Amino acid sequence: MVNFLIFGPPGSGKGTQSVRLAEKFNLMHLSTGDMLRAQIAAETELGKKMSSIISKGELVPDEVVIEMIASKIDSTKNRAGFLYDGFPRTVAQTVALEKMLNKRAMKIDSMLVLEVDHDELVKRLVLRADQSGRPDDCDTAVIENRIRVYREKTEPIIEYCRKKGIYQPVNGMGTIEDIFKRLAGYMKKFL
Ligand code: AP5
Ligand code: MG
Repeated sequence: MVNFLIFGPPGSGKGTQSVRLAEKFNLMHLSTGDMLRAQIAAETELGKKMSSIISKGELVPDEVVIEMIASKIDSTKNRAGFLYDGFPRTVAQTVALEKMLNKRAMKIDSMLVLEVDHDELVKRLVLRADQSGRPDDCDTAVIENRIRVYREKTEPIIEYCRKKGIYQPVNGMGTIEDIFKRLAGYMKKFL
């Protein structure tokens, strides 16, 4: 099974593109952000603990998301592979994912990084705030913090993956359709 990371800062279009790509290529879409928001909506103990971290735009502890992903990998059937959206977010999460995949005779095949200008990221998230109801979209200071956390804690994964030869930058500016075609073009080679 093939394993793709859809990577990029908040607002770069990871979720938008992942839904469409997962459908096109019969992949399991795994978004740790969506999984965490489902826990919050269901008012689970974990959700209650995570909600204040998420509303500040900080990262939840590595072990929380690693466990979520591991259980999804094992329960997935009849798919061509996996599309990870918003995971991994630290080098430690990346190493944990690689170990999980290696144990199951898989690897990260490609890391597709959406590149989008800072002002466009903020514009998209501010626009979304009205419909999404996401507390982390409603305050521009929190949006800026999410982008800062991405640059500090998540972006180092790019160098890690570049050394492994799996880093693929993708222009994330333009229409949703054009970006989809670019991403699908890169992914086709692995499927
Ligand atoms: P997560 O849910 O992953 O959010 P994020 O990274 O902040 O990214 P977004 O979902 O806001 O943006 P996106 O790139 O998916 O863009 P989208 O397609 O939605 O994480 C939320 C929080 O959960 C984190 O801050 C953290 O606290 C926690 N968390 C999650 N995973 C974690 C992990 N692994 N470790 C630790 N903590 C974790 O698009 C954005 C908007 O733009 C939409 O309105 C869309 O319609 C629009 N749009 C998309 N493409 C275009 C386009 N081409 N042109 C115009 N508009 C567009
Ligand atoms: Mg998203």
